Amino acid sequence: MSLLLEMRGITKRFPGVVALHDVDFDLAGGEVHVLLGENGAGKSTLIKILAGAYHPDQGEIRLAGRPVRIDSAIAAQRLGIATIYQEFNLVPTLTVAENIFLGRPPRRRRCSSACTSGSAPTRPWPSSSSRSGRWSRSPRR
Ligand SMILES: Nc1ncnc2c1ncn2[C@@H]1O[C@H](COP(=O)(O)OP(=O)(O)O)[C@@H](O)[C@H]1O
Ligand SMILES: [Mg+2]
Repeated sequence: MSLLLEMRGITKRFPGVVALHDVDFDLAGGEVHVLLGENGAGKSTLIKILAGAYHPDQGEIRLAGRPVRIDSAIAAQRLGIATIYQEFNLVPTLTVAENIFLGRPPRRRRCSSACTSGSAPTRPWPSSSSRSGRWSRSPRR
């Protein structure tokens, strides 16, 4: 099976510590992997490199056989790499859906009754102040 992701010879140093030394990680399409290791083993650092949050000191990343430079979170997103961080911040004024899709709102919306009635909404979801749409928060009980 051809490889979707190849991380080869990844090395990352922080002041006083080598977080990753010559690490290889391969992933084929449809596979699910678990990165397992003790605290400080470098799991988060490896994923942050893939996510564009950190830059490796050495090594290469290939996607579908093509060398890529992932120098920002946006670059990672554009390559189809999505990351869910262990610790993250939510925007309290946005809905759950808006938080999930922060920075990459859906461009299309599934056709619902609004489409057939000829009044398709212009926003991908109702505003956070609206409680009536399927994307908005459930009413508080
Ligand atoms: N931003 C950072 N600055 C300095 N050292 C870091 C930084 N991030 C991680 N480290 C160090 O790199 C090593 C690997 O950390 P990390 O990738 O968080 O491990 P894990 O996720 O496996 O617990 C640890 O020694 C950690 O202290
Ligand atoms: Mg970690």
